[in-house]
Amino acid sequence: MFDLKDLYQEVIVDHNRSPRNFGQMENPDRTLEGFNPLCGDRLTLYVKLQDQQIDEISFDGSGCAISVASASLMTDAMNGKTINEAEEIFENFHILVTSDGEDADLDKLGKLAALAGVREYPTRVKCATLCWHTLHSILEGDDEVISTE
Ligand code: FES
Repeated sequence: MFDLKDLYQEVIVDHNRSPRNFGQMENPDRTLEGFNPLCGDRLTLYVKLQDQQIDEISFDGSGCAISVASASLMTDAMNGKTINEAEEIFENFHILVTSDGEDADLDKLGKLAALAGVREYPTRVKCATLCWHTLHSILEGDDEVISTE
């Protein structure tokens, strides 16, 4: 029988094995590092912006399967979004992984819903949100390393 959890698992495994938008960007407009001191994992995010819109986005660094899959899914979802749209997706994603998720707008999240299962595991929530907090800060123009703690 079709099991949604299996599909979600597949999406995460796929994005961890073959992360999209992975690699350092040449001449980004903004660069920011996210750090999870609990495990030492670090991801760097690169963006090019044009007229308040994300023109290009990529990431590199090392992290666990959840953090890499989350960054891959996030960068995929953010390509071409305006800063306001990106913030709206960030808010929905945050609701999805930190509450019971009922109020999250799944239409806006698409494949990102694959990460809903992490809310059962508080330490994994930090893995999944590392890149998101980094994105939120980079769009605000922050330049300090972002920490999950
Ligand atoms: Fe380090 Fe997940 S264990 S970010």
